[in-house]
Parts: sequence; C-alpha cells; structure tokens
Amino acid sequence: MVNPALRFRFLKKIEMKTSRLIILGLLGGLTLTMATSFSSCGKKTKSEVDILPDSVYLQRGDSISAATFDTLSKTLRYIMQTAGPDSAIRFCNVQAYPITKIYQSHGIHVKRTAAKFRNPANEPDLLENQLLNEFKDQHQAGKELKPIIRRDNNGGVHYFKPILLQGMCVTCHGDPAIDIPDLVKNVLSELYPSDQAIGYRIGDLRGLWHIQFDADLR
Ligand code: HEC
Repeated sequence: MVNPALRFRFLKKIEMKTSRLIILGLLGGLTLTMATSFSSCGKKTKSEVDILPDSVYLQRGDSISAATFDTLSKTLRYIMQTAGPDSAIRFCNVQAYPITKIYQSHGIHVKRTAAKFRNPANEPDLLENQLLNEFKDQHQAGKELKPIIRRDNNGGVHYFKPILLQGMCVTCHGDPAIDIPDLVKNVLSELYPSDQAIGYRIGDLRGLWHIQFDADLR
C-alpha cells in the first residue's frame, strides 16, 4: 500500500503542475476572445459579443482535457508502479479528482464516456452516442479524429474529444486472456460487475471527453 500522506503530496504536486497548464489555457482563451472582440470595426450587439467563437472553446477544451488526463495518467502510473494495477483501479474515476471539482465550481463539467463503458455512471447520452458513432465511422475510414464543438438550445457549449487507447491502458482495458492480470480482473469484476470496457487494442477508439461549459460562463 502507498502511504496516504505521500499519495496526497504526490497528487497535490501533480495538480499544482496541471493548474499551471489550465491558467495558460485560460489566458490563451482570454487573449483569443479579446482579439476576436476587437478585430472588427463597428459596433456589435451584446449578443454578438457574448457568443464566443468555437476556436475559444476548442482551446479551452484542449487545455482542460490535457490537464485532467495529465493528473489521471500520472497518478495511475505512480500507483501502478508502487502499489500495483489492482490498487490503481480506484483512481480511474475522473469525477473523484479535486481538479474536476474546481472546474465544476466554475460551471465546467468534465466527463469521460464510451460506447462500451465500465462505470454505468459514464453511459453515453443521446448526443454522446451520436458523436461516438460519427467518430467511429471516421476512425474506421482512417481519418484523423479532431475535437469538435456543439452548442445546445440553452446557451451551453459542449467540447468533444475522441480518446484513443494507448499502451498503458491495456492492463485494464485490453484482452482479458493476454493483457489483464488476474488480480486486476478480480478487482474489476468486484467493482464493475457489468463491465464492458475490455477487449481493446492500442489505437482503438476507446471513448470521448465531453466538457460542458455552462451558458453563463464567459
Ligand atoms: C488501472 C486500471 C486502468 C488503466 C491502466 C486505465 N483505465 Fe480506463 N478505466 C478504469 C476504470 C476502473 C474505469 C472506471 C472509472 C469510473 O468509475 O469512472 C475506467 C474508465 C475509463 C473511461 C470512461 C468510460 C468507462 O468505460 O467507464 C475511459 C474513456 C477510459 N477508462 C480510458 C482509458 C485510457 C485511454 C487509458 C490509458 C491512457 C486507461 N483508461 C487506463 C481502469 C483503468
């Protein structure tokens, strides 16, 4: 087992590093916003100014997903090396990280979802399902998968980014007969009895980041 105090300090260190990334991302977004607001002459109505272009949200989404992935993957790697992959399983829930809670208090909701999900709480909704299918078709056609923005009728902005499987993921999402150790299989079946998130290979489309920016967030 990892000493809890040590683990806490480690998580703090990661989050300090990642918060720098977030600040950079937000600053970048702000610069872009200012640039787009001042770039054209003539008066703009309030609603025109209020609607930020997709490019701003693409940049914000990129930095938030990168920072969250950074926290998650560094923690995972550390716990896997020190305590083993079976212990690391408990650190895979993005909602459990303080970083996600900080975003949420600012009207930003971070979610990971997948067609074949492990945690039922990550089950895709209608729009997520539709986009998962679109990305799947693009992936099968050999196209490069890029993040996209969708807007809802309530003024909310949604950022979606495909997640591809990497080498370090197969221990918990790969072929159960080859990649996943018995110890991990035991913990997975105990915690996620209806787990569907296995059988993936490196490079497969594993799921999506969905980052929602609330309407009043400018
Ligand atoms: C130590 C085991 C472990 C490793 C390694 C791991 N995951 Fe997971 N993954 C999990 C667990 C456990 C969950 C369920 C988390 C939760 O409760 O939300 C999960 C959930 C997910 C989800 C959310 C959708 C779902 O199925 O519930 C995605 C997407 C995902 N993992 C992708 C990855 C990727 C990509 C990697 C490699 C970079 C990776 N995982 C590495 C154990 C792991």
